[in-house]
Amino acid sequence: MSIGIGYGKVILFSEHFVVYGVPAIALGITNKAIVEIKKSDSLGYTSDTQGTIPELTTKSIRNVLEAMNIKENFHVHLKGDLPTFGGLGSSAAFCVAVVRALNNEYKLNLRNEQVNAYAYEGEKAFHGNPSGIDNTMATYGGAVKFIRGKTPAENKFEQVKIGSPLHFVIGVTGISSPTAKMVAEVRKFKEEEPDQFQNLCDQAGEIVKRGEKALASGDTKLIGELMNENQFLLRAIGVSIEQNETIIKAALSAGALGAKVTGGGGGGCCIALAKDEKHAKEILNAIKEKGFDRFITSVE
Ligand code: MEV
Repeated sequence: MSIGIGYGKVILFSEHFVVYGVPAIALGITNKAIVEIKKSDSLGYTSDTQGTIPELTTKSIRNVLEAMNIKENFHVHLKGDLPTFGGLGSSAAFCVAVVRALNNEYKLNLRNEQVNAYAYEGEKAFHGNPSGIDNTMATYGGAVKFIRGKTPAENKFEQVKIGSPLHFVIGVTGISSPTAKMVAEVRKFKEEEPDQFQNLCDQAGEIVKRGEKALASGDTKLIGELMNENQFLLRAIGVSIEQNETIIKAALSAGALGAKVTGGGGGGCCIALAKDEKHAKEILNAIKEKGFDRFITSVE
């Protein structure tokens, strides 16, 4: 048996717009997917966590095996503490964990770059047209500015500076919306309203520019304001549903500096920025009172 690990992420600025080449900023979180693989006569998948879609997951394992040119079959078991309802990069974390488990099984000494590329092939089963930000985050972690290239090999990413510790609360709607579906809905919006969509992309690009500076200087007030601005854009493209809005409202009422959908939306997860650790607990309680699952994550 071999084991592999992949980490989750939150997108701070510019999800969805990143699919169309706008830069985005994402932060790695410590919640992780852990995968155990055992050689088997046929491909199999089981999970300790709720919310995964077995058909897509099995397809992603097949994609990874094919990409790595591995002819043997495995039973793959997923565990770990990364919620799989969407928004936290759980499918990418799973793919990275599978690649790393295979790397351990066959002692391949893969470089991160190769892990990332193979995981991207797995991600295609879930996303259809992934930008590559999720598998990049699951492979490298940290605080990253990501720009999609014309091909995966042309994607660019760099670590961004974090000037002061950031304390986030993640609110989990418990509603799973496949990222592929959300990305397809946004594409429809783009095709129907090309000018409006371009305008929203331009605004997202500005938010990322200002956000990168605010992160570097540790200006948490401005980071929060930019998160709120970003949420306006996400509402405009229709990815923030009632449950997202309830979590965001609860967090802002508890004094969050900013709050928004993170990731694909249509449910999934929201992210709220607290002033400090103590304040994060207050936001946590406000989200709990509305009946949603929630947890705290910090970025140093
Ligand atoms: C999903 O975590 C982020 C999206 O922008 C899709 C993608 O970039 O592949 C919604």
